[in-house]
Amino acid sequence: MNKLYIDKIRSDFPILSREINGNKLVYLDNAATTQKPNLVIDSISDFYKNTNSNVHRGIHTLSIESTEAYELAREKIAKLINSPSSETVIWTRNTSESINLVAFTWGEKNISSGDNIVITPMEHHSNIVPWQQIAKKKDAEIRYLPMTKDGKIELSNISKIIDSKTKIVSLTHISNVLGTINPVKKITEIAHKNDAVVLLDAAQSVPHMPVDVIELDVDFLTFSIHKMMGPTGIGILYGKKHILSEMPPYMFGGDMILEVSYEKDAKWNSLPYKFEAGTPNFADAVASGVAVDYLNQLGLENIWQHEKKITEYAMNKLSELKKIHILGSLDSNDRGGVISFYHQDIHPHDLGTALDQRGIAIRTGHHCAMPLVRSYDIVAAARISFYIYNTFEEIDIFISSLKEIEGYFTK
Ligand code: ALA
Repeated sequence: MNKLYIDKIRSDFPILSREINGNKLVYLDNAATTQKPNLVIDSISDFYKNTNSNVHRGIHTLSIESTEAYELAREKIAKLINSPSSETVIWTRNTSESINLVAFTWGEKNISSGDNIVITPMEHHSNIVPWQQIAKKKDAEIRYLPMTKDGKIELSNISKIIDSKTKIVSLTHISNVLGTINPVKKITEIAHKNDAVVLLDAAQSVPHMPVDVIELDVDFLTFSIHKMMGPTGIGILYGKKHILSEMPPYMFGGDMILEVSYEKDAKWNSLPYKFEAGTPNFADAVASGVAVDYLNQLGLENIWQHEKKITEYAMNKLSELKKIHILGSLDSNDRGGVISFYHQDIHPHDLGTALDQRGIAIRTGHHCAMPLVRSYDIVAAARISFYIYNTFEEIDIFISSLKEIEGYFTK
């Protein structure tokens, strides 16, 4: 993508013209959350100005319009991930809630004493802690797929880990720390041979590359809309229909029921409503649909290719700095647009603060993956992460600032 086109895309994002501490903002914290284009920002205000009304509850015009817009947004999400139907797309609050929903409904029903749950050492806390909790409750075991020092799953050894007692394999598609792109299809094949289901945490992939649930054959897929240019507080759980149909509800209340009486048990609504108790976040759902339109307009494959180039460029530049150590693979072909690193003499928080003084936003800390970061014998790392609006010039500004800070701290 040429510079003119990226500049045009940048002009859709008002925040990118901000100054931070007297410098032009260089936003390199996209794995934490992405910025929003005018289309998305305006759609939220437009919805409240013109359409706002509760969904699935009224026969008046506003409620019908609101319901139609809400369900159309669901269909757009379904198409984005190639879900066979929008019934299998459930609105949640975020990826964490989607994984908790699966752990405490599907897991509650299907995991028993002596079973095992397989995850990887590179999971975000949201794909570790819910499984630890359900494992404790059910007296099940947590197993980890073996990982090399450069952050790749060792496929040759996984049949020793995934066995007939494995109930679920839950893994990230792209690591939010290492950028590793996991071989999902191969792992899914082995899981299915053992009658285990697969949950894919796609929080760092759906916003950046084409993801197809049919092709990957995963049983569940989770992601958050705020990481794909949409609003915060809304996320997705996709599941295969026959699995979702058998799962008990997660929360109970309005809209998830078909029939309630004083005396008897309630009857549950059909999919996807069985999992959407209470008034949903319909305004942000509609804006999520607009974010999908915008992503489609840019093209997920174009986004991916641009990020690959930026990542390769940044990896090459970072590798020239002798005191910087990159976590994970040094081959940019193995990665999505995420690079975590540490400086052997400067604490990541000092680096982050000094970069912020120059207008550069990065993330520092354990990145919600404490065990993984600690496995590299460090307590914190710095991380840069990219999106379609990042430029090669921004990487140059980041690298020259890094050199300047290094000189300042180590003189
Ligand atoms: N999970 C998000 C991150 O990696 C918040 O920064």
